Amino acid sequence: MIRDTNGLVDSEQGLVSRRVFIEPDIYEQELEQIFARCWLFLCHDSQIPLPGDFFSTWMGEDPVLVVRDSGGTVHAFLNVCRHRGNRLCRADHGNAASFTCAYHGWTYTNDGRLSGVPYLKEAYHNELDRNQWGLVPVAQLDQYKGLWFATFDAQAPPLRDYLGEMAWYLDTFFDRRDGGIEFIGGTHKWIMPCNWKFPAENFAGDGYHVHWSHLSAVQTGSGGDFRTRPDDAGRAMSPGNGHSVMFAGPEMPADMPDPAVLAYEERIKPELQRRLGPRIALGKPVAGTVFPNLSILRPTSRTLRVWHPRGPDKTECWAFVYVDKAAPPEVKKAIRLAGARVFGPGGTFEQDDMDNWQGCTETGRGIVARRYPLSYQMGLGRETFDPERGAVTSDYRYSEANHRGFYRRWAELMAASSWADLAT
Ligand code: FES
Ligand SMILES: [Fe+2]
Repeated sequence: MIRDTNGLVDSEQGLVSRRVFIEPDIYEQELEQIFARCWLFLCHDSQIPLPGDFFSTWMGEDPVLVVRDSGGTVHAFLNVCRHRGNRLCRADHGNAASFTCAYHGWTYTNDGRLSGVPYLKEAYHNELDRNQWGLVPVAQLDQYKGLWFATFDAQAPPLRDYLGEMAWYLDTFFDRRDGGIEFIGGTHKWIMPCNWKFPAENFAGDGYHVHWSHLSAVQTGSGGDFRTRPDDAGRAMSPGNGHSVMFAGPEMPADMPDPAVLAYEERIKPELQRRLGPRIALGKPVAGTVFPNLSILRPTSRTLRVWHPRGPDKTECWAFVYVDKAAPPEVKKAIRLAGARVFGPGGTFEQDDMDNWQGCTETGRGIVARRYPLSYQMGLGRETFDPERGAVTSDYRYSEANHRGFYRRWAELMAASSWADLAT
C-alpha cells in the first residue's frame, strides 16, 4: 500500500513539507521506496583487493556483507544468518574463507553457500536442504570505476543508466589519472541527530552556507576560501535522476591550501584535460550527491561519505578519504590529514554542518512549526538545461535548483509503484 505523498514536495514552487524530515511513517516509506529500490554505494575496490577480503556495510537499515570470494568474484549479501536472523559477520572488514554465526554455529563460505550446520545428522536427520538456506544476495551488483554499488530491486535500471550523465562528473573526482583512486586512512563513522536528507541536499547544492556557516573555519586556513570570493562562473547543476553537482569557475582555486597539493594539481592539469575532455574547461566540480545518499567533496579535503539512515531523526555518517592512486606520498598524506582536520567528526567544517542539520531536524518535532513548509526558492525558474554541461544548470553559483531536483526525484520515487511506473 503506497501512501499518497502529494503535497509534501512542490518542486515547481520550491516548497518542501517539514513532515518529510521527522515523521516515522514517511521514513518507513523511504526505506521501502527509495533505499530498497535505488542503487546504493557499498565500498571501493581498494578496500577488498584480495580473494577473501570483505567489508561490512548497510543498505538503508539492512546490514550487507560485501565479499570477494576465494575465486576473486565480488558478492554482496544480507549480513544476516538464515537460521534465527543473527547478524552474521561482526567485523568491519577483514579476510575470511567462511563466516560462522555466533548463535548456533551455522557456517557460510565466502560465496554465500551454507556449508556447515552443527548436528546436521543427529538433530536435523540430514533433512535440512542446505542449498535452500544460503545467504540472501542483493538483486543487482555492479561497479563504476572501482566504486561498488548494489540495489535490492531486480527491476532497477542498470547502474550505468542509473548514473546517466552523472558518470562523467564522477570521473572528475575518481578517474583523473591512470589507476583511478584508492581509499586511505580507514573509515570515520559517527551518528548525527538529523534526518539523512539534510546532509544529502547540503552536498548536492548548498554553496550558499559556506561563506556564512564556515567563515571562521575558512579564516583559520581550513580551505574553502573560494566560496568567500566572487565567482561568476560557478554553477549548480543537476545531471538527471536526482543526482547533483556544484561547479566552481575554472579560475577558482578549489583545493586545500597545502603547497604539495597545489603544486601537484598544477602538474597534472594537462593529463586531466586529456582524460576528461573539453567540458572540464568550463569549471571544477567541487561537490555533489549521487541520489540518494552518497556525497563527494573535493576542495577542503577529498571526502566521500554515505549518509546511512537510522530513523527519521538520526543519520550515521561513514566518511572515507580518497586520493589519486598515482599521487606521491606527500600529497596523499596532506589529503589524509585534511580529511581528519576538516571533515572528520571533530573537523572544523564538519562541526558547523552537524550543528545546523541537527537544528533543522529538531525544530520539526514541533507540531506547529511542522505546519510551515521549508523554502527552496532560490533562483526558482532560472535554471535551464545546458547541453554543453549535460545538466540543468543554474544562472548563478548560489541556487537551490539542485535541491529542487533532489526533492522532485524523491517525490517521484515515493509515489511510484515500480521502476516501470517511474519511467512513464
Ligand atoms: S542464528 Fe545463526 S546459527 Fe542460529
Ligand atoms: Fe558545510
